[in-house]
Amino acid sequence: MAENIRRTLTDSPQRWLSPKWFYDDLGSVLFDAITRVPEYYPTARERAILLARADEIVVASGADTLVELGSGTSDKTRLLLDAFTARGQLRRFCPLDVSATTLATAAEAIGAEHPGLDVQPVVGDFLHDLHRIPTGGRRLVVFLGGTIGNLTPDEQARFLRRVADALVPGDSLLLGTDLVKDTARLLTAYDDPVGVTAAFNRNILAVLNRELGADFDLRAWRHEARWDAAGERIEMHLVAREAQSVRIPGARLDLKLDEGESIQTEISSKFRIERLPSLLGPAGFSVDSVWCDPDGDVALTLATRTG
Ligand code: AVJ
Repeated sequence: MAENIRRTLTDSPQRWLSPKWFYDDLGSVLFDAITRVPEYYPTARERAILLARADEIVVASGADTLVELGSGTSDKTRLLLDAFTARGQLRRFCPLDVSATTLATAAEAIGAEHPGLDVQPVVGDFLHDLHRIPTGGRRLVVFLGGTIGNLTPDEQARFLRRVADALVPGDSLLLGTDLVKDTARLLTAYDDPVGVTAAFNRNILAVLNRELGADFDLRAWRHEARWDAAGERIEMHLVAREAQSVRIPGARLDLKLDEGESIQTEISSKFRIERLPSLLGPAGFSVDSVWCDPDGDVALTLATRTG
Protein backbone atom coordinates (compact mmCIF):
# COMPACT_ATOMS: atom_id res chain seq x y z
CA MET A 1 0.00 0.00 0.00
CA ALA A 2 2.77 2.47 0.99
CA GLU A 3 4.62 2.04 -2.31
CA ASN A 4 1.43 2.29 -4.36
CA ILE A 5 0.33 5.48 -2.64
CA ARG A 6 3.78 7.04 -2.79
CA ARG A 7 3.78 6.50 -6.56
CA THR A 8 0.23 7.64 -7.34
CA LEU A 9 0.21 10.69 -5.06
CA THR A 10 3.38 12.01 -6.70
CA ASP A 11 2.23 11.29 -10.26
CA SER A 12 2.27 14.30 -12.56
CA PRO A 13 0.32 16.22 -13.81
CA GLN A 14 -2.49 14.49 -11.89
CA ARG A 15 -2.11 13.00 -8.42
CA TRP A 16 -4.40 10.02 -7.97
CA LEU A 17 -5.37 7.16 -5.67
CA SER A 18 -6.54 3.67 -6.60
CA PRO A 19 -10.26 3.27 -5.83
CA LYS A 20 -9.48 0.01 -4.06
CA TRP A 21 -8.42 2.09 -1.02
CA PHE A 22 -12.02 3.29 -0.62
CA TYR A 23 -13.17 0.00 0.78
CA ASP A 24 -12.23 -0.17 4.45
CA ASP A 25 -15.11 -1.13 6.77
CA LEU A 26 -16.63 2.35 6.74
CA GLY A 27 -16.02 2.78 3.00
CA SER A 28 -17.81 -0.48 2.26
CA VAL A 29 -20.77 0.65 4.38
CA LEU A 30 -20.79 4.03 2.60
CA PHE A 31 -20.74 2.34 -0.80
CA ASP A 32 -23.64 0.15 0.29
CA ALA A 33 -25.45 3.37 1.28
CA ILE A 34 -24.73 4.83 -2.19
CA THR A 35 -26.55 1.89 -3.76
CA ARG A 36 -29.69 3.03 -1.90
CA VAL A 37 -29.43 6.66 -3.02
CA PRO A 38 -32.22 7.28 -5.60
CA GLU A 39 -29.90 9.27 -7.89
CA TYR A 40 -27.45 6.34 -8.06
CA TYR A 41 -29.42 4.31 -10.62
CA PRO A 42 -26.96 1.45 -11.56
CA THR A 43 -27.69 -0.92 -8.67
CA ALA A 44 -31.48 -0.91 -9.02
CA ARG A 45 -31.26 -1.19 -12.82
CA GLU A 46 -28.88 -4.11 -12.72
CA ARG A 47 -30.96 -5.83 -10.05
CA ALA A 48 -34.05 -5.56 -12.28
CA ILE A 49 -32.20 -7.24 -15.16
CA LEU A 50 -30.92 -10.01 -12.88
CA LEU A 51 -34.39 -10.58 -11.49
CA ALA A 52 -35.75 -11.08 -15.01
CA ARG A 53 -32.82 -13.12 -16.36
CA ALA A 54 -31.35 -15.09 -13.47
CA ASP A 55 -32.84 -18.40 -14.55
CA GLU A 56 -31.76 -17.89 -18.16
CA ILE A 57 -28.23 -17.07 -17.02
CA VAL A 58 -28.05 -20.15 -14.80
CA VAL A 59 -29.25 -22.45 -17.58
CA ALA A 60 -27.08 -20.88 -20.31
CA SER A 61 -23.93 -21.02 -18.16
CA GLY A 62 -24.48 -24.61 -17.07
CA ALA A 63 -22.22 -23.67 -14.17
CA ASP A 64 -21.70 -25.55 -10.91
CA THR A 65 -19.28 -22.92 -9.60
CA LEU A 66 -20.05 -19.22 -9.21
CA VAL A 67 -17.15 -16.80 -8.81
CA GLU A 68 -17.92 -13.17 -7.99
CA LEU A 69 -15.22 -10.53 -8.43
CA GLY A 70 -15.51 -7.37 -6.30
CA SER A 71 -18.41 -9.06 -4.54
CA GLY A 72 -19.02 -6.58 -1.69
CA THR A 73 -22.23 -7.59 0.07
CA SER A 74 -23.14 -9.97 -2.82
CA ASP A 75 -26.60 -8.47 -2.56
CA LYS A 76 -27.62 -8.72 -6.22
CA THR A 77 -25.80 -12.04 -6.57
CA ARG A 78 -28.36 -13.59 -4.23
CA LEU A 79 -30.79 -13.48 -7.17
CA LEU A 80 -28.41 -15.74 -9.09
CA LEU A 81 -27.76 -17.94 -6.07
CA ASP A 82 -31.50 -18.45 -5.60
CA ALA A 83 -31.94 -19.39 -9.25
CA PHE A 84 -29.00 -21.82 -9.04
CA THR A 85 -30.37 -23.36 -5.86
CA ALA A 86 -33.86 -23.76 -7.34
CA ARG A 87 -32.26 -25.95 -10.03
CA GLY A 88 -29.93 -27.72 -7.61
CA GLN A 89 -27.12 -26.77 -9.95
CA LEU A 90 -24.56 -25.04 -7.74
CA ARG A 91 -21.72 -26.67 -5.78
CA ARG A 92 -19.37 -23.79 -5.00
CA PHE A 93 -19.53 -20.05 -4.52
CA CYS A 94 -16.33 -18.02 -4.41
CA PRO A 95 -16.80 -14.32 -3.62
CA LEU A 96 -13.63 -12.21 -3.96
CA ASP A 97 -13.36 -8.76 -2.41
CA VAL A 98 -10.80 -6.38 -0.86
CA SER A 99 -12.95 -5.77 2.22
CA ALA A 100 -12.36 -8.69 4.62
CA THR A 101 -15.20 -7.73 6.99
CA THR A 102 -17.83 -7.23 4.30
CA LEU A 103 -16.73 -10.45 2.61
CA ALA A 104 -16.87 -12.52 5.81
CA THR A 105 -20.32 -11.19 6.73
CA ALA A 106 -21.69 -11.90 3.23
CA ALA A 107 -20.07 -15.34 3.02
CA GLU A 108 -21.45 -16.38 6.38
CA ALA A 109 -24.99 -15.23 5.57
CA ILE A 110 -24.95 -16.94 2.17
CA GLY A 111 -23.61 -20.16 3.70
CA ALA A 112 -26.52 -20.13 6.14
CA GLU A 113 -29.07 -19.38 3.38
CA HIS A 114 -27.72 -22.16 1.16
CA PRO A 115 -26.92 -25.24 3.21
CA GLY A 116 -24.64 -27.64 1.36
CA LEU A 117 -23.10 -24.88 -0.74
CA ASP A 118 -19.31 -24.82 -0.53
CA VAL A 119 -18.58 -21.11 0.10
CA GLN A 120 -14.93 -20.18 -0.47
CA PRO A 121 -14.38 -16.45 0.15
CA VAL A 122 -11.11 -14.91 -1.09
CA VAL A 123 -9.84 -11.62 0.33
CA GLY A 124 -8.14 -10.03 -2.64
CA ASP A 125 -8.43 -7.62 -5.51
CA PHE A 126 -9.68 -8.55 -8.93
CA LEU A 127 -6.56 -7.27 -10.70
CA HIS A 128 -3.97 -9.28 -8.76
CA ASP A 129 -5.69 -12.30 -7.27
CA LEU A 130 -7.38 -14.08 -10.18
CA HIS A 131 -5.01 -17.03 -9.76
CA ARG A 132 -6.71 -17.73 -6.44
CA ILE A 133 -10.17 -18.52 -7.83
CA PRO A 134 -11.13 -22.21 -7.73
CA THR A 135 -10.48 -24.43 -10.76
CA GLY A 136 -12.41 -27.40 -12.09
CA GLY A 137 -16.10 -27.84 -12.75
CA ARG A 138 -18.03 -25.45 -14.96
CA ARG A 139 -17.47 -21.87 -13.83
CA LEU A 140 -19.42 -18.66 -14.17
CA VAL A 141 -17.49 -15.51 -13.24
CA VAL A 142 -19.65 -12.49 -12.47
CA PHE A 143 -18.35 -8.93 -12.34
CA LEU A 144 -21.25 -6.63 -11.62
CA GLY A 145 -22.05 -3.00 -10.86
CA GLY A 146 -20.01 -1.54 -13.68
CA THR A 147 -16.83 -1.95 -11.64
CA ILE A 148 -14.87 -2.73 -14.82
CA GLY A 149 -15.36 0.99 -15.47
CA ASN A 150 -12.83 1.72 -12.70
CA LEU A 151 -10.17 0.58 -15.18
CA THR A 152 -8.74 2.50 -18.11
CA PRO A 153 -9.40 0.99 -21.57
CA ASP A 154 -5.92 -0.63 -21.58
CA GLU A 155 -6.45 -2.06 -18.13
CA GLN A 156 -9.91 -3.32 -19.12
CA ALA A 157 -8.43 -5.24 -22.05
CA ARG A 158 -5.65 -6.70 -19.90
CA PHE A 159 -8.03 -7.58 -17.10
CA LEU A 160 -10.46 -9.39 -19.43
CA ARG A 161 -7.57 -11.26 -21.02
CA ARG A 162 -6.51 -12.43 -17.55
CA VAL A 163 -10.03 -13.52 -16.67
CA ALA A 164 -10.12 -15.49 -19.92
CA ASP A 165 -6.73 -17.03 -19.06
CA ALA A 166 -8.07 -18.11 -15.67
CA LEU A 167 -10.98 -19.87 -17.39
CA VAL A 168 -11.27 -22.81 -19.79
CA PRO A 169 -13.37 -22.95 -22.98
CA GLY A 170 -17.04 -23.25 -22.09
CA ASP A 171 -16.76 -21.29 -18.83
CA SER A 172 -18.61 -18.00 -18.86
CA LEU A 173 -18.49 -14.39 -17.76
CA LEU A 174 -21.38 -12.17 -16.71
CA LEU A 175 -20.31 -8.55 -16.99
CA GLY A 176 -22.21 -5.48 -15.78
CA THR A 177 -21.50 -2.17 -17.50
CA ASP A 178 -22.92 1.31 -17.00
CA LEU A 179 -23.85 2.99 -20.29
CA VAL A 180 -23.21 6.48 -21.68
CA LYS A 181 -26.24 8.68 -21.00
CA ASP A 182 -27.35 12.22 -20.26
CA THR A 183 -24.43 14.00 -18.59
CA ALA A 184 -26.54 15.70 -15.91
CA ARG A 185 -27.89 12.36 -14.73
CA LEU A 186 -24.40 10.88 -14.63
CA LEU A 187 -23.06 13.80 -12.62
CA THR A 188 -25.93 13.64 -10.12
CA ALA A 189 -25.39 9.91 -9.66
CA TYR A 190 -21.80 10.69 -8.60
CA ASP A 191 -22.62 13.82 -6.62
CA ASP A 192 -25.86 13.01 -4.86
CA PRO A 193 -27.78 15.71 -2.96
CA VAL A 194 -27.59 13.88 0.39
CA GLY A 195 -23.81 13.85 0.15
CA VAL A 196 -23.28 10.11 0.59
CA THR A 197 -20.92 9.98 -2.39
CA ALA A 198 -19.00 12.99 -1.03
CA ALA A 199 -18.56 11.18 2.30
CA PHE A 200 -17.50 7.98 0.48
CA ASN A 201 -14.93 9.96 -1.49
CA ARG A 202 -13.51 11.85 1.50
CA ASN A 203 -13.25 8.65 3.54
CA ILE A 204 -10.32 7.57 1.36
CA LEU A 205 -8.29 10.27 3.16
CA ALA A 206 -9.33 8.82 6.52
CA VAL A 207 -8.00 5.46 5.29
CA LEU A 208 -4.62 7.09 4.56
CA ASN A 209 -4.64 8.81 7.95
CA ARG A 210 -5.23 5.54 9.75
CA GLU A 211 -3.11 3.17 7.65
CA LEU A 212 -0.15 5.44 6.88
CA GLY A 213 -0.27 7.89 9.78
CA ALA A 214 -1.12 10.74 7.38
CA ASP A 215 -2.54 14.04 8.64
CA PHE A 216 -5.11 14.90 5.95
CA ASP A 217 -7.69 17.37 7.27
CA LEU A 218 -10.84 15.91 5.68
CA ARG A 219 -12.68 19.19 6.00
CA ALA A 220 -10.12 20.89 3.78
CA TRP A 221 -11.19 18.76 0.78
CA ARG A 222 -14.23 19.15 -1.45
CA HIS A 223 -15.84 16.30 -3.41
CA GLU A 224 -16.14 16.84 -7.15
CA ALA A 225 -17.56 14.66 -9.92
CA ARG A 226 -16.45 15.52 -13.47
CA TRP A 227 -17.52 14.20 -16.83
CA ASP A 228 -14.62 13.53 -19.20
CA ALA A 229 -16.40 13.69 -22.55
CA ALA A 230 -13.43 12.42 -24.57
CA GLY A 231 -12.88 9.39 -22.33
CA GLU A 232 -16.63 8.94 -21.73
CA ARG A 233 -16.01 8.54 -18.05
CA ILE A 234 -16.92 10.06 -14.72
CA GLU A 235 -13.94 11.14 -12.66
CA MET A 236 -14.14 11.67 -8.93
CA HIS A 237 -11.74 14.16 -7.43
CA LEU A 238 -10.97 15.60 -4.03
CA VAL A 239 -10.18 19.28 -4.45
CA ALA A 240 -8.09 21.22 -1.91
CA ARG A 241 -10.15 24.10 -0.50
CA GLU A 242 -6.93 25.89 0.46
CA ALA A 243 -3.17 25.48 0.04
CA GLN A 244 -1.89 22.89 2.48
CA SER A 245 0.92 20.56 3.51
CA VAL A 246 0.24 16.94 4.28
CA ARG A 247 2.61 14.49 5.94
CA ILE A 248 2.26 10.79 5.11
CA PRO A 249 4.99 9.12 7.21
CA GLY A 250 3.93 5.57 6.29
CA ALA A 251 4.66 6.36 2.64
CA ARG A 252 7.73 8.54 3.40
CA LEU A 253 5.94 11.42 1.74
CA ASP A 254 5.48 15.13 2.42
CA LEU A 255 3.07 16.84 0.06
CA LYS A 256 2.52 20.51 -0.68
CA LEU A 257 -0.77 21.19 -2.38
CA ASP A 258 -2.07 24.37 -3.96
CA GLU A 259 -5.55 25.70 -3.45
CA GLY A 260 -7.79 24.10 -6.09
CA GLU A 261 -5.36 21.26 -6.74
CA SER A 262 -7.05 17.86 -6.94
CA ILE A 263 -6.41 14.21 -6.24
CA GLN A 264 -8.27 11.91 -8.61
CA THR A 265 -9.79 9.05 -6.63
CA GLU A 266 -11.78 7.13 -9.21
CA ILE A 267 -12.64 6.84 -12.86
CA SER A 268 -15.94 5.23 -13.77
CA SER A 269 -15.97 4.55 -17.50
CA LYS A 270 -19.30 4.38 -19.27
CA PHE A 271 -19.83 2.02 -22.19
CA ARG A 272 -21.73 1.81 -25.46
CA ILE A 273 -23.73 -1.31 -26.04
CA GLU A 274 -22.61 -1.74 -29.66
CA ARG A 275 -18.97 -1.82 -28.54
CA LEU A 276 -19.31 -4.61 -25.98
CA PRO A 277 -18.44 -7.38 -28.48
CA SER A 278 -15.20 -5.60 -29.43
CA LEU A 279 -14.35 -5.26 -25.73
CA LEU A 280 -14.90 -8.95 -25.03
CA GLY A 281 -13.97 -10.60 -28.33
CA PRO A 282 -10.23 -9.82 -28.40
CA ALA A 283 -9.95 -11.07 -24.81
CA GLY A 284 -11.25 -14.51 -25.79
CA PHE A 285 -14.97 -14.28 -25.11
CA SER A 286 -17.90 -14.60 -27.48
CA VAL A 287 -21.01 -12.65 -26.53
CA ASP A 288 -24.09 -14.81 -26.00
CA SER A 289 -26.59 -12.23 -24.73
CA VAL A 290 -26.70 -8.54 -23.92
CA TRP A 291 -29.57 -7.39 -21.71
CA CYS A 292 -30.55 -3.81 -20.97
CA ASP A 293 -33.05 -2.28 -18.56
CA PRO A 294 -36.04 -0.61 -20.30
CA ASP A 295 -34.44 2.84 -19.95
CA GLY A 296 -31.16 1.68 -21.48
CA ASP A 297 -29.19 2.77 -18.43
CA VAL A 298 -27.04 -0.30 -17.81
CA ALA A 299 -26.19 -3.53 -19.63
CA LEU A 300 -25.52 -7.06 -18.50
CA THR A 301 -23.57 -9.25 -20.90
CA LEU A 302 -23.22 -13.02 -20.81
CA ALA A 303 -20.20 -14.26 -22.72
CA THR A 304 -18.47 -17.62 -23.15
CA ARG A 305 -14.76 -18.31 -23.03
CA THR A 306 -13.95 -19.44 -26.56
CA GLY A 307 -11.72 -22.41 -27.38
C1 AVJ B 1 -18.48 0.11 -7.31
C2 AVJ B 1 -16.97 0.96 -8.90
C3 AVJ B 1 -19.14 0.30 -9.58
O1 AVJ B 1 -18.04 3.35 -10.22
O2 AVJ B 1 -20.18 3.52 -9.89
C4 AVJ B 1 -20.15 4.77 -6.74
C5 AVJ B 1 -18.25 3.09 -7.20
N1 AVJ B 1 -18.19 5.55 -6.87
N2 AVJ B 1 -20.23 6.10 -6.57
C6 AVJ B 1 -19.07 3.14 -9.54
C7 AVJ B 1 -18.86 4.43 -6.94
C8 AVJ B 1 -19.04 6.57 -6.63
C9 AVJ B 1 -18.95 2.31 -8.26
N3 AVJ B 1 -18.38 0.95 -8.51
